[in-house]
Amino acid sequence: MDRRFVLVGLCATGALAGAGQALAQTSDGKPSGPLEISSPGGILQVRIRSGEGNIQKGIPAYEVRRLGNPVIALSRLGFRFADAPDLAPDMEVVEARARSFDQIWEQPWGEQRLIRNHYNELAVTFAETSGLKRLMRVVFRVYDDGIGFRYEFPEQPNLVNALITEELTEFRFVEDAEAFWIPARHSNRYEYLYNTTPLNEMFMAHTPVTMRTGDGLHISVHEAALVDYASMVLRRSGANTFQADLTPWSDGIRVKARAPFVTPWRTLQIADSAGGLITSYLILNLNEPNALGDVSWVEPGKYVGVWWEMHLGTGTWGSGPKHSATTANVKRYIDFAAEHGFSGVLVEGWNLGWDGDWYRDGGSAFDFVKAYPDFDLPELARYGAERKVRLIGHHETAGNISRYENQLDAALDLMETHGVRAVKTGYVADAGQIQRIDEKGITRHEFHDGQFMARHHLHVVKEAAKRKVSINAHEPIKDTGLRRTYPNWVAREGARGQEYNAWGNPGCPPEHTVILPFTRMLAGPMDYTPGVFDLFNTRRENRDTRVETTLAKELALYVVIYSPIQMACDLPEHYEARPEPFRFIKDVVTDWEETRVLNARIGDYVTIARKARRGDDWFLGSLTDENGRLFDIDLDFLDSGRNYKAQIYRDGPKADWRSDPYDMEIIEGLVNSRSKFALRLAPGGGQAVRFTPATKAEMRRLKRI
Ligand code: NOJ
Ligand code: CA
Repeated sequence: MDRRFVLVGLCATGALAGAGQALAQTSDGKPSGPLEISSPGGILQVRIRSGEGNIQKGIPAYEVRRLGNPVIALSRLGFRFADAPDLAPDMEVVEARARSFDQIWEQPWGEQRLIRNHYNELAVTFAETSGLKRLMRVVFRVYDDGIGFRYEFPEQPNLVNALITEELTEFRFVEDAEAFWIPARHSNRYEYLYNTTPLNEMFMAHTPVTMRTGDGLHISVHEAALVDYASMVLRRSGANTFQADLTPWSDGIRVKARAPFVTPWRTLQIADSAGGLITSYLILNLNEPNALGDVSWVEPGKYVGVWWEMHLGTGTWGSGPKHSATTANVKRYIDFAAEHGFSGVLVEGWNLGWDGDWYRDGGSAFDFVKAYPDFDLPELARYGAERKVRLIGHHETAGNISRYENQLDAALDLMETHGVRAVKTGYVADAGQIQRIDEKGITRHEFHDGQFMARHHLHVVKEAAKRKVSINAHEPIKDTGLRRTYPNWVAREGARGQEYNAWGNPGCPPEHTVILPFTRMLAGPMDYTPGVFDLFNTRRENRDTRVETTLAKELALYVVIYSPIQMACDLPEHYEARPEPFRFIKDVVTDWEETRVLNARIGDYVTIARKARRGDDWFLGSLTDENGRLFDIDLDFLDSGRNYKAQIYRDGPKADWRSDPYDMEIIEGLVNSRSKFALRLAPGGGQAVRFTPATKAEMRRLKRI
């Protein structure tokens, strides 16, 4: 990061000032000739043209080059509507404006405190030359690490209500690539293991979709600022070619809008290295700044919870002898949290409605205000407050949106009253089974990632913000960086997480967590819930199931899989049985000043170092897939001229996730920024390290590594 820049926006508006070729104009003042714009460092170029290749004249299209080489060949833009003719294939450019922007902004919490938002922008307005003469603007923001573009429909007489049936945006990649993707519109939402296939074998995929070309270019397609629109899924429409496929409403319409409106940004992150995708903050940059003002009440932190025992089957959400959310059991968790420095205790199964088959019954009995009689909320809030531990609320909706929205105010008021600062929401229902009651009182079934749910989630997040409550949504709509605008949207699930290791068939194989950082994690923080210490303790009925990592890898996940809220998901007794490795979970922080990727290959390994936002500590996490690996890494991220104590939690010589996942070495030594540091990762293994400035006593006591 260039520290010379201050927290001030530097904007320039004009005819492509310093941002590409100057615009030529025809005698009637309309732009003519090629329209193009380059990124500030000249790395990426976008050109707008039509009437070439497959693209008929009058159809807007764009292409992307990187350092002169084509990445996206000429690709179509446009829309089809239900209630109006399709945008005619006779559009012409009536206006083109360019501007540059350069600003450093600060995240209230995050993986990187200061982020530079530096782009050149080209906004091109197209108009139909006949018929309705409708206007459509496409705005391109071109960064050195990627591009974003969105459509804007200004207020206009012949386009008022828009019922979008198809967005025609295309991504025509110039060559096949190796793609990492999960299928879209399948019942299990985003909770699939990733496919690694040629790009051309990807049919329908959720974004982020990430790919590596033969030349080693890394490209990820996603979107930013999905506010009041449907999610974009990529559908294969030809060789190396994908079209935006917007998730439909139950009536088949994709998006219901009223001009003026804007679409989300369609994004392409493009980097030479896999790690370059992780440290690209393009998605956040394309979102609007914080709309909530003072958000000092949003609290990053670590939590434990009445959770894993229910997934193991030793406890239940519903009432009965195994009910987990009892006053006594929650007090046990609060005591444990207080003793070990956790700030929150998640309590699931505290409210009425879990008895019977809540999933099959579509959550029709859930009450978000009434607790089970054996759960004393006021007493537990008091007990927690005395010990500086907050309860974390839980609202499982089973996708019954009207039921939840009808109770939302009261439900969130209750949380506020009892000092609850975070609520985990849940939408357990198959894809396409979200319940919406329409204007006529008829129940309709929607997707988790359609426009209806985009609206619902933001409604919940805004209502929660009024009560200083943060939201962690499970079975959510995908993340598109809205945490920048609403910093109380702290995390979500939206991928296959640790819970699958309890259920099995299959769980999360070793490769999964070395694909997530380059796919799902590019969207935003994930509540993966790391930290299982009893790796064989899974559901009794699935005895062949287990957590497919070494113990050291469970620790390393805290650094690699970023979230401002991190759970230590296992049972207190399993941590108490292994106090030494548990120390790392107690020490690791969840809010960062800076993030560096030290090495990475998608699907194989990743090593990340992050500096704590407060204090001088650095933490390192390294993960591998099913293969053991040795690496030498430089510690040049450490302050030069300073000695650090390294507390190393690494796989032992016999460690292997299959045969000996617990073999671990915990050692301490002295290092500095010039040290060469050896990482040894077992098959399915990992390594976690804490670096702390060494005291004088430690300088004397510890050996140099
Ligand atoms: C699925 C969530 O991912 C999990 O964390 C939660 O415990 C259950 N739903 C019940 O709400
Ligand atoms: Ca889930």
